[in-house]
Amino acid sequence: MTNEREGLRVAVFGATSAIAQAALRLWAARGAELFLVARDRERLDRIAADLALRGARRVEAFVADLDDSSVLGRVLEAMDAALGVPDVALVAFGTLGDQTRAARDPEAARRTLTTNFVSPAVLLTALAARFEKAGAGCLAAITSVAGDRGRASNYVYGAAKGGLQTFLEGLRHRFAGTGVRVLDIRPGPVDTPMTAHMPKSGLPWASAERVAADILRAVERGRSVLYTPWFWRWIMLVLRHLPQPLFHRLRL
Ligand SMILES: NC(=O)c1ccc[n+]([C@@H]2O[C@H](COP(=O)([O-])OP(=O)(O)OC[C@H]3O[C@@H](n4cnc5c(N)ncnc54)[C@H](OP(=O)(O)O)[C@@H]3O)[C@@H](O)[C@H]2O)c1
Repeated sequence: MTNEREGLRVAVFGATSAIAQAALRLWAARGAELFLVARDRERLDRIAADLALRGARRVEAFVADLDDSSVLGRVLEAMDAALGVPDVALVAFGTLGDQTRAARDPEAARRTLTTNFVSPAVLLTALAARFEKAGAGCLAAITSVAGDRGRASNYVYGAAKGGLQTFLEGLRHRFAGTGVRVLDIRPGPVDTPMTAHMPKSGLPWASAERVAADILRAVERGRSVLYTPWFWRWIMLVLRHLPQPLFHRLRL
């Protein structure tokens, strides 16, 4: 996938995410060409400047709210101009939302479902058309272990991530036998601004750096579904198969 002559070309949507930034630092150190999209201009410029210092061959940044589908055409034209079709597109943006509120307030539920499912799926549809023409590359998106089974504590966010998992699975089916790879990244809990308000006990918390290293390895190996850290694959396998009466007795 890597074009050794030109270096790896990577587009990241939601580049201010802590996980995305950690991955970008690794790609920058490898001399990649980067195209970044985020909605906070000041932070985006700071991140872009830092990545250039860390060794990125080239960094282009574009400011956009990725929930606004009317800007998508301009975002992707800017990507085309900066990189052409990238070797890797990473869809990283998302919001945890407030489950207590989203469970009762339809507008809050709509916002969570939009940012975590509708907007990424719309973006991936536009990216897939470009990757299909190129016949190569890796389309990657960060879903979550929360998408593996609906739970009382986070089923609105979890449903959006589960929908995105199914969307990625369908894309992978569509591109089977071609040079296009589709990677579904399913982290367990990660210590980032998204989870800053949550107590850090009880669950095995991962760092953004650990998750980012796993992402780069999965991209390089052409993997389909990444659980990160690895043990979440087995935890979720058990959780998915727990019989409903037993599952309902657990407060998760
Ligand atoms: N942290 C975890 O425990 C965990 C676990 C599983 C999966 N994930 C997923 O990992 C991904 C990255 O999250 P993170 O942990 O790195 O948290 P984070 O640092 O809070 O990153 C989330 C990013 O999404 C951006 N974003 C949200 N809505 C956006 C929009 N409409 N347009 C553009 N950007 C938008 C935010 O931008 P602003 O800063 O401008 O708001 C922020 O940079 C998310 O998809 C998340 O659901 C996280």
